[in-house]
Order: sequence, then structure tokens, then C-alpha cells
Amino acid sequence: MNVTDDIKQKLDIVDVISQYIQLSKSGRNFKATCPFHAEKTASFFVFPEKQSWHCFGACATGGDIFTFVMKKEGLDFGQALRLLADKAGITLSSKTELRSKEDTARLDRLLKLNEVAAEYFHYLLLHEPEALTARQYADKRGLSSLAIGDFQLGYAPNKWDGLTNYLTKSGYAAEEQLAVGLIVPRDTGGYYDRFRNRLIFPIRDIKRRVAGFGGRALDDSLPKYLNSPQTVLFDKSSIIFGIDRAQGPISEKDSVVITEGYMDAITAHQYGFSNTVASMGTALTDRQISILRKLTRNIVVALDADPAGIEATTRSIVTIDEQIPKDHWMPWTQSKTYAELVKYEVQVVEIRDGKDPDEIIRNSPEKWALLLKESQPIIDFTLKKEIANINFDSSKDKSAVVSKLLPIISQINDAIRRAHYVQKLAGLLGIDERFVSDALFDLQSAERKNKSSYNRKAKRDYTDLTVTSRYIEEYCLTLLLQYTDLREQGLTLSADYFEHSENKDILLKWQANPDIDTIMAGLDPSMIDYFRHVQSFHTRLPGSLILDKRERELALKDCINRLLEGYVRSLEIKKKLILSAEKEKGDIESQVAKLIEHGIDESRQLQSIFKKRGRLFSRTRGV
Ligand code: GTP
Ligand code: MN
Repeated sequence: MNVTDDIKQKLDIVDVISQYIQLSKSGRNFKATCPFHAEKTASFFVFPEKQSWHCFGACATGGDIFTFVMKKEGLDFGQALRLLADKAGITLSSKTELRSKEDTARLDRLLKLNEVAAEYFHYLLLHEPEALTARQYADKRGLSSLAIGDFQLGYAPNKWDGLTNYLTKSGYAAEEQLAVGLIVPRDTGGYYDRFRNRLIFPIRDIKRRVAGFGGRALDDSLPKYLNSPQTVLFDKSSIIFGIDRAQGPISEKDSVVITEGYMDAITAHQYGFSNTVASMGTALTDRQISILRKLTRNIVVALDADPAGIEATTRSIVTIDEQIPKDHWMPWTQSKTYAELVKYEVQVVEIRDGKDPDEIIRNSPEKWALLLKESQPIIDFTLKKEIANINFDSSKDKSAVVSKLLPIISQINDAIRRAHYVQKLAGLLGIDERFVSDALFDLQSAERKNKSSYNRKAKRDYTDLTVTSRYIEEYCLTLLLQYTDLREQGLTLSADYFEHSENKDILLKWQANPDIDTIMAGLDPSMIDYFRHVQSFHTRLPGSLILDKRERELALKDCINRLLEGYVRSLEIKKKLILSAEKEKGDIESQVAKLIEHGIDESRQLQSIFKKRGRLFSRTRGV
């Protein structure tokens, strides 16, 4: 919802247009001679149900309440917006721009606040007498003073108000301290420090800004780690500990090692394995993967040897699906599971003779280097782990393990690689390769069957979704605003295909000049929030789009086809409405007869759109 929707809800298009021209009834709709070109027979129609108008005569254009007023009064979108808002009794804010500036200023302040907190904790760890136990703990854990400085480790004092007092004295309001999660409200009013008597790890984002903190207990007390809550600065699904220091080395070495824990990453850096980061204990998310894949394609995961670690490695990575509202159409978001790791040929380091990387590295950096060298594709790792658990005398066990592993092998796109793993699996089990490849064949034909019924369903859903043109328009704009390399393709898109004037306005401004600041400067202030919303949508785009230009082009192309289809379809519906109404009245005029011709024309157009879409569809699904 944005302010244009509010206005459309308050005003009726028939009322508004009636103030300019005389409308007469035609069935459920209204008609008039077109106010935009000279004509004798009425070919200008207004559709109250759709709150739109269309001239089927010489202008052959249409739109909503805003486009009508723009055309009739010679106004731009912003002016029409103000005029109609006035009519609707809606006050448009003009301070939005100011507020957005305030937003950025606020974020800057919160970042600064985190920075101040990190410095406070760090100072205490280095200099405060009461931080002695923390210093001893860091020492016991083998943290060098260089590592403590590099990672700006700190100490949160054993008090309820140490940090909050300091921050308040430094000029930060409680509300700000709360916003970054450094204090917690008390039931009885007031606040207390979240982190107390802990070793503090500032967590920086890729731009080196402090997004949040982790705090480790200095003894066996629980929880072992306490982290910042989800805040405007701290998004757990995309944060990667150590990325600020590791990004350079990751690019240089063209590989990244992902560990689980803070301590693992820091120790790795301390011993020169500077391309190491930590996932902070949770399953990898595809956002984390996509951030790392921008730096390198060679991803090595080193997860703990305990059963949970292995489970986390081999099972799945969390999908971002749940975070996308269902009504937002996102063709490239499919569930990303283990298959994703297989596809990206992620390597796995097997942790042997040690609890975690931290321990192994401190015992023997050479050993760690060797383990890294011996890392193997995740699929080999899985094969080995699964087969290690079976009883070789049991045919049932063998059959079960084949059924479990074949679906994984079947995910591999490359036929040679696939054959390699069929061979390997058969070899490991000591059975004839033919049986395994036959079983794979059966599985794949079953999968194909499923897939085609899935495709049929998806196509049906797609058709339903053309109704929600708004989302397609928004999606289209998000792509254009985010990816400058789509410019050429975006220039071919006709603004006529956009039903919503506010989107049309943004598109036209982008086509005139793609510079974001220029676009924003030209927008009506009341539309800035909406613009930001559309723009921010890119953070939810799937990784494949971020990484691959071709995928982006296909995405945009599909959008354009959908818009075109929606446009043609809605015209067809309008024509049918008009024809039936005019027939009833018995005066089919020559104009209307022409409409029938046009109708045939558009069905053909629709057919060709479907053809194009069909091709695109099979390509994106990889069928
Ligand atoms: P040490 O025991 O100090 O060596 O910790 P570690 O860094 O090796 O961590 P561990 O392997 O136990 O856990 C991996 C990561 O999971 C940690 O670095 C934390 O980010 C996270 N984690 C572990 N325990 C907790 C907990 O109790 N609460 C939360 N929120 N996170 C935890
Ligand atoms: Mn550890």
C-alpha cells in the first residue's frame, strides 16, 4: 500500500472523469467521445470495476485516474498526485525526504554507538584491573595480544549498568542503546546491560562496521555464548564473523574456509589462515553463501566433528523462502538445500584428532594445512560417512544406502561427474555398477514425471499471478534499479504495460536517467518511502540473480513478458465487456466492429507471448 492506493480508494474514477467530460452508460461501464482526440463515435470507455479508462480509437491508450488527470491537465505525475490527494482530502507529507535523511543519520549514530561500545569493552579488557580474570581466560585460550587487538576483543564488566552508564555519559539515549540490543528493559522499568562478565567479540559486517556483539562466558556458566539480538544493524541470516578481516585474503587466495565458532576463526587468523570466517554456530544460510560467492567460488566448510556438526554439513542449508511474503512472486527462489552445496561443489574438511579447528590449529598448524589440502567435495564426504555406518553383510543396508544416496547423485547436472559417482558408490559397496546406474535411471524417470506435473501446476499459478500486476511491476523496478547492466533491456520496456501510475512514473524517470539520486530528486516527496521500499526489495533477491548477469536478464525478460501478457489480457476483457454491452443495446457501430478485428489481433499477440514465455520457462527451469 502506498499513498496512491489511498487516493484510489477514496476517489471514484467515474466521478473524477465526469468532472471533465460527459459520460454515458454502456452496460456496467461508461463511454464518451474521446477527450484526447477528435472523433464522432464514442470509443473512450471508463471501467469502474477496474478503476481504469481506455480509448479504443486513435489514441489507443488508457490508464488509471492519475494518467487521466495528467493527460487532461497536462501535469506530471507528482502534480496529478497532489491535485487528486487534495480532492480525496489526503494530506501528503512533504517531509518524507527529511525523515529519510533522519533515518540515515540515525543509522549512522547507531553504528557509532556500537563502535563506542566496542572501544569501551576493548579498553576494559586491556586496562581495567577487574578484567584480570578475562585477561587470564584469553591467555588460557591462547589468544595473542595481536589477535586481541586485530579483532578488538573486549570485556563486559560484571555490573548491571557499566556499559549503559558509559553510553549515556557519551550522549546516547536509552532508546538508541536498546535499538542495537546492548541493553535489556527491566519489567520494573529501566534497563540493564545485556553483556555482563563476558569476553566480547565485536561482529563486523563486510564494510567493517560493528553490527553486533558476541559474548563468551569466562567459565562453564550458561549460555556459553550470548549474541546481539536481531536489530536494524544485525541480521543474523547474512552476518559472517570475520568477513571484515578475511575478505581481502579470500579474494587473494581465491578460497574461503568457513568454521563454526568465533574462536576457530580467530585462531585460524592468528596462525596465518587469514581466509577463514565463522558461521556462528547456525546452519549456513544461502545469503551467507551468496556473499562469499561474490569473493570466491571455492568454498570449504570446516564444521565440527561432533554428530551435530556433520548433520549440519550434510543435511541442508537454511532457505530464505520463509522470509518472502507469499504474494511476492519470486520465480528463482526454490528451496535451497543440500543440492545447493552439491551444485556449488562445496568442499568439506573432515575434522579428525581434535574437537574443532581452534584446537587442531593450536596443536599443529601443519596438521590443519594438511587437512585443508585433503578437503573433499561434499558429495564424496557424504558417501564415505553414510557407507561407514552400514553392515557390509547386509543386503538390506546396502539397498537402503543406495536409495539414500542416489537422489543426491541425481542432483549433479554434469553427466560425467554423475557417472563418476555411480561408479564410486558401486565400488565402495562392492556391487556391480550396472545395478546402481539402472536404479539411477529409474529414479530419474520418476523425477521427470514429478517435475512435469510440477511445471503444469506452476504454469497455472503463473496465470493466476498475472492478476497481481503490481508485484510484477515492483519486481521489474527492483531489478532495474539494482542492476545497471539491465539498462539496455529496460529501455525497451514500454511504460504502457505498467498499470500503476506510481510505478510508471518511476520507470519513466529511470528510463530518462538511471541515476538513483536523480530519480529520487524528481519524485514527489510522498513517494520516496515507496521508492525506497521497491529499491530495498533487492535484498530479498535470490543469490543466483546477484551473481549471474544471464539470470538477471532472463528474470527481467520474464517480467516484461508477464506485463505484456497482463496488458493484452486486460484489454481483451475490456473489449468483451464493451461488445456485450453494445450488442445488447443493438447499435453496433463501426467503431465496435473494428474492435472485433483488434480482438483477433490481440489473441495472436497473446499466443506469441505464450510461446515466448514457454521457451523462457523451460530455460529457467533447466528442462
Ligand atoms: P569455545 O567453546 O569457546 O571454543 O567456542 P567455539 O567458538 O569453539 O564455539 P562452539 O564450537 O562451541 O560453537 C560455535 C559457535 O556457535 C560459537 O562461536 C557461537 O557463535 C555459537 N554458539 C555456541 N554456543 C552458543 C550459545 O550458547 N548461544 C548462542 N547464541 N550461540 C552459541
Ligand atoms: Mn571451540
